[in-house]
Amino acid sequence: MKRIGVLTGGGDCPGLNAVIRAVVKSAVNDFGLEVWGVEDGYLGLIRDRMRPLDMKDVSNILTRGGTILGTSNKADPRRSKVGVDAAGNDVFEDVTDRVLEHVRARKLDALICIGGDGTMTGAAHLVAHGLPCIGVPKTIDNDLMHTEITFGFTTAVQTATEALDRIHTTAASHHRVMLVEMMGRYAGWLTLHAGAASGADVILIPEIPYLLDQVCAHCLQRSRHGKAFTIIAVAEGARPVDGDYVVDRVVQDSPDPVRLGGVSEVLCDQIATRAGLECRATILGHVQRGGSPVAFDRVLATLFGHEAARLAAAGKFNELVVQQGNRITTVPLSEVADQQRTVPIDDPLIAASRAVGVSFGDES
Ligand code: F6P
Repeated sequence: MKRIGVLTGGGDCPGLNAVIRAVVKSAVNDFGLEVWGVEDGYLGLIRDRMRPLDMKDVSNILTRGGTILGTSNKADPRRSKVGVDAAGNDVFEDVTDRVLEHVRARKLDALICIGGDGTMTGAAHLVAHGLPCIGVPKTIDNDLMHTEITFGFTTAVQTATEALDRIHTTAASHHRVMLVEMMGRYAGWLTLHAGAASGADVILIPEIPYLLDQVCAHCLQRSRHGKAFTIIAVAEGARPVDGDYVVDRVVQDSPDPVRLGGVSEVLCDQIATRAGLECRATILGHVQRGGSPVAFDRVLATLFGHEAARLAAAGKFNELVVQQGNRITTVPLSEVADQQRTVPIDDPLIAASRAVGVSFGDES
């Protein structure tokens, strides 16, 4: 019997448990594989924290948010914090050999890595060092290359849409400009979809840099036409034509240290000053990653997890499970590492949104 490991890496996301469940149940029921869970993503490989997973471990977790295995968006075998030097600086080392030793000692034949681009870059690194891996694409950002959709995205869109709907009542009652900031890093998928779903008046995404004057003009034009409020859906990665991203913090020991955030607060002050309108900003933050996955994500996670287990049983490694043309298929892991899928400027939802009167803060 083959033994495979499964880990969840990067930020948590609705549907992780549904994938773990599908992997374990399919592996045991259909393919006669044994599954071990690795705790806290790559950290569990570095620290040798793994445990066998059986049917009862994955019972009743389909609807649960988060991950029963824990996760980390900092741990990276290529650059792992091993201490602090005399000057107080963090000391990093490549601990790939230690990871491989732990995998050998636990007799894992292969690893299923559930995560976003950081996790896939880590998996591609392990593959290059001889450890067979299979990737499963997770992220609320929906920014992984070669898959039409990642699981978790649809739930986050639903959560953000509900928040925007609620903001609507205050915007209308108080005649205010309300900015709602959403996650997504350098991709505007989440903001575009939630903004369109909730009927936001302005949608600002990283792919279309905005002009402050255009944003203000749209708000003022709405007031002139009797709409004394404006809802602005703004991506954390939105930036002005002549400016840069707003950074919330830098997490030094993370492979992707920059955390974006705060652009809505900057814009809130700028619009209030420039247009003389009353503005408020709301940053949705981690609420977008929480909660039970919607039905679509439970189904997608189940399909992805089952396919990953099937590939492991068939000995087909070093692939990422993806959805293309509405079908589950695979692409080589090496093709997704270190890449991001952003919203194309000719995305049909951009054209449709413009047609119903949405401003993207640009000149067109
Ligand atoms: O990649 C998922 C994500 O939620 C991004 O949308 C966001 O920029 C980032 O993670 C936040 O990371 P952290 O949980 O470290 O604050």
